[in-house]
Amino acid sequence: MSSILISRPALAAEIDKVAEVAGYLWQKGWAERNGGNITINITEFADDEMRRMPAISQPLSIGATLPALKNGFFYCKGTQKRMRDLARDPMANGSIIRILDDCAHYVIIADQPVMPTSELPSHLSVHNYLLSQGIPYNASMHTHPIELVAMTHHRKFLEKDVASNLLWSMIPETKAFCPRGLGMVPYQLPSSVELAESTIAELPDYDVVMWEKHGVFAVDTDIMAAFDQVDVLNKAAQIYVTSRNMGFEPEGMSPEQMHELSVAFNLPK
Ligand code: 13P
Ligand code: ZN
Repeated sequence: MSSILISRPALAAEIDKVAEVAGYLWQKGWAERNGGNITINITEFADDEMRRMPAISQPLSIGATLPALKNGFFYCKGTQKRMRDLARDPMANGSIIRILDDCAHYVIIADQPVMPTSELPSHLSVHNYLLSQGIPYNASMHTHPIELVAMTHHRKFLEKDVASNLLWSMIPETKAFCPRGLGMVPYQLPSSVELAESTIAELPDYDVVMWEKHGVFAVDTDIMAAFDQVDVLNKAAQIYVTSRNMGFEPEGMSPEQMHELSVAFNLPK
Protein backbone atom coordinates (compact mmCIF):
# COMPACT_ATOMS: atom_id res chain seq x y z
CA MET A 1 0.00 0.00 0.00
CA SER A 2 1.14 3.54 -0.65
CA SER A 3 2.93 5.18 2.29
CA ILE A 4 0.55 8.14 2.50
CA LEU A 5 -2.33 5.70 3.03
CA ILE A 6 -0.60 3.14 5.25
CA SER A 7 -0.22 5.64 8.08
CA ARG A 8 -3.72 7.11 7.57
CA PRO A 9 -6.36 4.36 7.76
CA ALA A 10 -9.31 6.77 7.58
CA LEU A 11 -7.96 8.27 4.35
CA ALA A 12 -7.25 4.76 3.02
CA ALA A 13 -10.89 3.82 3.70
CA GLU A 14 -12.09 6.81 1.61
CA ILE A 15 -9.78 5.87 -1.26
CA ASP A 16 -11.02 2.25 -1.00
CA LYS A 17 -14.57 3.55 -1.55
CA VAL A 18 -13.41 5.43 -4.66
CA ALA A 19 -11.88 2.20 -6.00
CA GLU A 20 -15.08 0.26 -5.24
CA VAL A 21 -17.24 2.83 -7.05
CA ALA A 22 -14.82 2.92 -10.01
CA GLY A 23 -15.39 -0.83 -10.37
CA TYR A 24 -19.16 -0.34 -10.34
CA LEU A 25 -18.91 2.37 -13.03
CA TRP A 26 -16.99 -0.03 -15.27
CA GLN A 27 -19.40 -2.91 -14.58
CA LYS A 28 -22.37 -0.65 -15.39
CA GLY A 29 -20.91 0.17 -18.81
CA TRP A 30 -20.73 3.84 -17.87
CA ALA A 31 -16.92 4.10 -18.02
CA GLU A 32 -15.68 3.27 -21.51
CA ARG A 33 -11.93 3.79 -21.91
CA ASN A 34 -11.00 6.73 -19.63
CA GLY A 35 -14.62 7.96 -19.38
CA GLY A 36 -15.66 9.67 -16.17
CA ASN A 37 -13.78 11.10 -13.22
CA ILE A 38 -13.95 11.33 -9.44
CA THR A 39 -12.51 13.83 -6.98
CA ILE A 40 -12.69 13.69 -3.19
CA ASN A 41 -12.02 16.48 -0.72
CA ILE A 42 -9.59 14.85 1.73
CA THR A 43 -8.52 18.01 3.57
CA GLU A 44 -9.92 16.63 6.85
CA PHE A 45 -7.29 13.85 6.74
CA ALA A 46 -4.33 16.20 6.19
CA ASP A 47 -2.20 16.09 9.35
CA ASP A 48 0.95 18.21 9.84
CA GLU A 49 3.17 15.61 8.21
CA MET A 50 0.95 15.46 5.12
CA ARG A 51 0.87 19.26 4.97
CA ARG A 52 4.68 19.28 4.87
CA MET A 53 4.96 16.73 2.07
CA PRO A 54 7.01 18.13 -0.83
CA ALA A 55 5.52 18.76 -4.23
CA ILE A 56 6.33 16.17 -6.90
CA SER A 57 5.13 18.43 -9.73
CA GLN A 58 5.53 21.99 -10.85
CA PRO A 59 2.70 24.34 -9.80
CA LEU A 60 -0.13 23.67 -12.25
CA SER A 61 -2.98 26.02 -13.15
CA ILE A 62 -6.56 25.17 -12.12
CA GLY A 63 -7.97 27.56 -14.73
CA ALA A 64 -10.00 29.41 -12.10
CA THR A 65 -9.36 31.11 -8.75
CA LEU A 66 -11.16 29.24 -5.99
CA PRO A 67 -10.72 30.95 -2.59
CA ALA A 68 -12.50 28.34 -0.47
CA LEU A 69 -9.95 25.69 -1.56
CA LYS A 70 -6.85 27.44 -0.12
CA ASN A 71 -4.40 24.75 1.14
CA GLY A 72 -7.04 22.06 0.56
CA PHE A 73 -6.19 18.48 -0.40
CA PHE A 74 -7.97 16.38 -3.04
CA TYR A 75 -7.71 12.89 -4.46
CA CYS A 76 -8.29 13.09 -8.23
CA LYS A 77 -8.63 10.43 -10.91
CA GLY A 78 -5.80 10.85 -13.44
CA THR A 79 -6.58 12.16 -16.89
CA GLN A 80 -6.72 9.39 -19.50
CA LYS A 81 -6.78 6.81 -16.70
CA ARG A 82 -9.36 4.03 -16.83
CA MET A 83 -11.93 3.42 -14.07
CA ARG A 84 -11.37 -0.31 -14.42
CA ASP A 85 -7.67 0.21 -13.67
CA LEU A 86 -8.40 2.65 -10.85
CA ALA A 87 -10.59 -0.02 -9.25
CA ARG A 88 -7.48 -2.20 -8.85
CA ASP A 89 -4.93 0.51 -8.06
CA PRO A 90 -6.31 3.95 -7.15
CA MET A 91 -2.92 5.49 -6.32
CA ALA A 92 -1.40 4.56 -9.70
CA ASN A 93 -4.44 5.87 -11.61
CA GLY A 94 -5.00 9.03 -9.60
CA SER A 95 -3.05 11.37 -7.38
CA ILE A 96 -3.31 13.61 -4.33
CA ILE A 97 -3.01 17.35 -4.93
CA ARG A 98 -2.63 20.38 -2.65
CA ILE A 99 -4.12 23.76 -3.59
CA LEU A 100 -1.57 26.56 -3.27
CA ASP A 101 -1.92 29.86 -1.39
CA ASP A 102 -2.98 31.73 -4.55
CA CYS A 103 -6.03 29.42 -4.87
CA ALA A 104 -5.39 29.26 -8.63
CA HIS A 105 -2.64 26.62 -8.78
CA TYR A 106 -1.99 23.21 -7.28
CA VAL A 107 0.85 20.74 -6.88
CA ILE A 108 0.78 16.94 -6.87
CA ILE A 109 2.11 15.50 -3.58
CA ALA A 110 1.49 11.73 -3.86
CA ASP A 111 2.01 8.98 -4.90
CA GLN A 112 3.19 9.55 -8.45
CA PRO A 113 3.02 12.60 -10.72
CA VAL A 114 -0.26 11.44 -12.33
CA MET A 115 -1.89 14.46 -14.00
CA PRO A 116 -5.43 15.02 -12.62
CA THR A 117 -8.55 14.64 -14.74
CA SER A 118 -9.22 17.07 -17.58
CA GLU A 119 -12.51 17.91 -15.83
CA LEU A 120 -10.60 19.37 -12.85
CA PRO A 121 -12.05 22.89 -13.47
CA SER A 122 -15.57 21.51 -12.95
CA HIS A 123 -14.66 19.32 -9.98
CA LEU A 124 -12.68 21.97 -8.11
CA SER A 125 -15.19 24.74 -8.89
CA VAL A 126 -17.89 22.50 -7.44
CA HIS A 127 -15.87 21.78 -4.27
CA ASN A 128 -15.23 25.52 -3.95
CA TYR A 129 -18.98 26.16 -4.20
CA LEU A 130 -19.81 23.44 -1.64
CA LEU A 131 -17.25 24.74 0.87
CA SER A 132 -18.28 28.37 0.39
CA GLN A 133 -21.89 27.39 1.12
CA GLY A 134 -20.99 25.20 4.11
CA ILE A 135 -22.45 22.11 2.40
CA PRO A 136 -20.87 18.97 3.97
CA TYR A 137 -20.32 17.11 0.68
CA ASN A 138 -16.85 15.64 0.04
CA ALA A 139 -17.32 13.76 -3.22
CA SER A 140 -17.94 14.67 -6.83
CA MET A 141 -18.32 12.21 -9.66
CA HIS A 142 -18.72 12.51 -13.42
CA THR A 143 -19.79 9.45 -15.43
CA HIS A 144 -21.45 8.48 -18.74
CA PRO A 145 -24.68 6.53 -17.84
CA ILE A 146 -26.11 5.20 -21.08
CA GLU A 147 -29.87 5.72 -20.74
CA LEU A 148 -29.62 9.13 -19.04
CA VAL A 149 -27.27 10.42 -21.74
CA ALA A 150 -29.56 9.03 -24.45
CA MET A 151 -32.47 11.05 -23.02
CA THR A 152 -30.54 14.31 -23.52
CA HIS A 153 -30.62 13.73 -27.28
CA HIS A 154 -34.30 14.76 -27.23
CA ARG A 155 -35.21 18.45 -26.83
CA LYS A 156 -38.20 17.84 -24.58
CA PHE A 157 -36.07 16.23 -21.87
CA LEU A 158 -33.77 19.26 -21.74
CA GLU A 159 -36.56 21.52 -20.49
CA LYS A 160 -36.42 22.28 -16.78
CA ASP A 161 -37.59 19.36 -14.60
CA VAL A 162 -39.22 17.40 -17.46
CA ALA A 163 -36.71 14.55 -17.07
CA SER A 164 -36.84 14.77 -13.22
CA ASN A 165 -40.61 14.43 -13.12
CA LEU A 166 -40.64 11.59 -15.64
CA LEU A 167 -37.85 9.67 -13.86
CA TRP A 168 -39.39 10.19 -10.40
CA SER A 169 -42.67 8.76 -11.70
CA MET A 170 -41.09 5.52 -12.99
CA ILE A 171 -40.48 3.92 -9.57
CA PRO A 172 -41.12 5.43 -6.10
CA GLU A 173 -37.57 5.05 -4.79
CA THR A 174 -36.23 7.48 -7.39
CA LYS A 175 -37.70 10.54 -5.70
CA ALA A 176 -37.07 9.11 -2.22
CA PHE A 177 -33.34 8.66 -2.89
CA CYS A 178 -32.74 11.46 -5.40
CA PRO A 179 -35.13 14.03 -3.90
CA ARG A 180 -33.62 17.11 -5.57
CA GLY A 181 -33.94 15.61 -9.07
CA LEU A 182 -31.83 16.11 -12.15
CA GLY A 183 -30.59 19.50 -13.36
CA MET A 184 -29.80 20.16 -17.02
CA VAL A 185 -26.66 21.81 -18.32
CA PRO A 186 -26.79 22.70 -22.05
CA TYR A 187 -23.97 21.25 -24.14
CA GLN A 188 -20.55 22.75 -23.42
CA LEU A 189 -17.09 21.63 -24.47
CA PRO A 190 -15.78 18.87 -22.13
CA SER A 191 -13.23 20.13 -19.56
CA SER A 192 -14.07 23.81 -20.24
CA VAL A 193 -14.40 26.51 -17.59
CA GLU A 194 -17.81 27.32 -19.17
CA LEU A 195 -18.95 23.77 -18.37
CA ALA A 196 -17.75 24.25 -14.78
CA GLU A 197 -19.66 27.55 -14.47
CA SER A 198 -22.87 26.07 -15.92
CA THR A 199 -22.58 23.15 -13.48
CA ILE A 200 -22.23 25.48 -10.47
CA ALA A 201 -25.29 27.42 -11.61
CA GLU A 202 -27.44 24.27 -11.18
CA LEU A 203 -26.12 23.18 -7.77
CA PRO A 204 -28.34 25.43 -5.64
CA ASP A 205 -31.27 23.31 -6.87
CA TYR A 206 -29.81 19.88 -7.73
CA ASP A 207 -27.24 17.32 -6.48
CA VAL A 208 -27.10 15.61 -9.89
CA VAL A 209 -26.86 17.48 -13.17
CA MET A 210 -26.83 16.23 -16.75
CA TRP A 211 -24.23 17.48 -19.13
CA GLU A 212 -26.21 17.42 -22.39
CA LYS A 213 -25.09 14.61 -24.74
CA HIS A 214 -22.16 13.81 -22.43
CA GLY A 215 -22.81 12.53 -18.91
CA VAL A 216 -23.84 13.32 -15.35
CA PHE A 217 -22.10 15.21 -12.59
CA ALA A 218 -23.12 14.28 -9.04
CA VAL A 219 -22.16 15.49 -5.57
CA ASP A 220 -22.84 14.00 -2.15
CA THR A 221 -21.40 13.39 1.31
CA ASP A 222 -19.19 10.58 0.02
CA ILE A 223 -18.55 8.84 -3.27
CA MET A 224 -20.85 5.90 -2.50
CA ALA A 225 -23.80 8.27 -1.94
CA ALA A 226 -23.02 10.20 -5.15
CA PHE A 227 -22.95 6.90 -7.06
CA ASP A 228 -26.27 5.82 -5.50
CA GLN A 229 -28.05 8.95 -6.71
CA VAL A 230 -26.92 8.39 -10.30
CA ASP A 231 -27.71 4.68 -10.03
CA VAL A 232 -31.34 5.25 -8.99
CA LEU A 233 -31.85 7.89 -11.71
CA ASN A 234 -30.41 5.67 -14.40
CA LYS A 235 -32.52 2.72 -13.18
CA ALA A 236 -35.60 4.89 -13.68
CA ALA A 237 -34.35 5.83 -17.16
CA GLN A 238 -33.90 2.11 -17.94
CA ILE A 239 -37.50 1.41 -16.89
CA TYR A 240 -38.65 4.21 -19.21
CA VAL A 241 -36.56 2.88 -22.11
CA THR A 242 -37.68 -0.72 -21.45
CA SER A 243 -41.34 0.32 -21.55
CA ARG A 244 -40.76 2.17 -24.82
CA ASN A 245 -39.00 -0.92 -26.20
CA MET A 246 -42.05 -3.00 -25.19
CA GLY A 247 -44.04 -0.72 -27.46
CA PHE A 248 -45.83 1.64 -25.06
CA GLU A 249 -45.36 4.96 -23.29
CA PRO A 250 -45.12 4.10 -19.56
CA GLU A 251 -48.04 5.38 -17.49
CA GLY A 252 -45.89 6.69 -14.65
CA MET A 253 -47.09 7.26 -11.09
CA SER A 254 -49.97 9.74 -10.93
CA PRO A 255 -49.53 13.30 -9.53
CA GLU A 256 -51.56 12.15 -6.50
CA GLN A 257 -49.25 9.20 -5.91
CA MET A 258 -46.21 11.47 -6.26
CA HIS A 259 -47.69 13.94 -3.79
CA GLU A 260 -48.51 11.19 -1.30
CA LEU A 261 -44.91 9.91 -1.57
CA SER A 262 -43.44 13.41 -1.06
CA VAL A 263 -45.51 13.90 2.10
CA ALA A 264 -44.75 10.41 3.46
CA PHE A 265 -41.00 10.74 2.88
CA ASN A 266 -40.87 14.46 3.78
CA LEU A 267 -39.31 15.33 0.40
CA PRO A 268 -38.51 18.92 -0.60
CA LYS A 269 -40.38 19.56 -3.90
P1 13P B 1 -10.37 12.31 -18.02
O1 13P B 1 -9.73 11.03 -18.47
O2 13P B 1 -9.47 13.51 -18.27
O3 13P B 1 -10.81 12.21 -16.57
O4 13P B 1 -11.66 12.59 -18.91
C1 13P B 1 -12.73 11.70 -18.98
C2 13P B 1 -14.04 12.36 -19.26
O5 13P B 1 -15.08 11.74 -19.09
C3 13P B 1 -14.06 13.76 -19.72
O6 13P B 1 -15.34 14.29 -19.69
ZN1 ZN C 1 -16.95 12.75 -19.68
